[in-house]
Amino acid sequence: MQYTLGIIKPNAVSSGYTGKILSKLEDSNFSMEAIRVMRLNSENAGAFYAVHKERPFFPSLVAFMTSGPIVPVVLQKKDAVSEFRRVIGATDPNEAEDGTIRKLYGVSIEENAIHGSDSSKNARIEIEFFFPDFFTSI
Ligand code: CMP
Repeated sequence: MQYTLGIIKPNAVSSGYTGKILSKLEDSNFSMEAIRVMRLNSENAGAFYAVHKERPFFPSLVAFMTSGPIVPVVLQKKDAVSEFRRVIGATDPNEAEDGTIRKLYGVSIEENAIHGSDSSKNARIEIEFFFPDFFTSI
């Protein structure tokens, strides 16, 4: 079993898609291990996406991620990282396969409805970012 971190992004939360997205994840046999509804401030959003800080879209990404509530969620499944990336689809909703979460609920490459960890190592870092006690409590 492996863990991954998903974040339902502000566009999907404000559009009322949180329940549908969580339902789709449960239907895909992910087990929900931790979840919260919260807001990021600019400092936290910048820290979370620090790997992108030199990219031209970084300021806009930080503004978007602080624009409203988000829903970080820890999910568990065999091969959770790759399985989750398959269910959410390509970063750009226009390139995502039919039926994927980003195809269904993304509106642009930035407002792409959901984030997913890109490796098991980063999943652990990202889970601890939002749920600092997670690995000491399991
Ligand atoms: P995410 O999977 O959360 O990882 C980084 C985010 O940066 C990505 O989803 C998008 O929201 C955003 N992003 C990536 N590439 C671009 C781009 N070319 N233009 C704007 N935003 C982008």
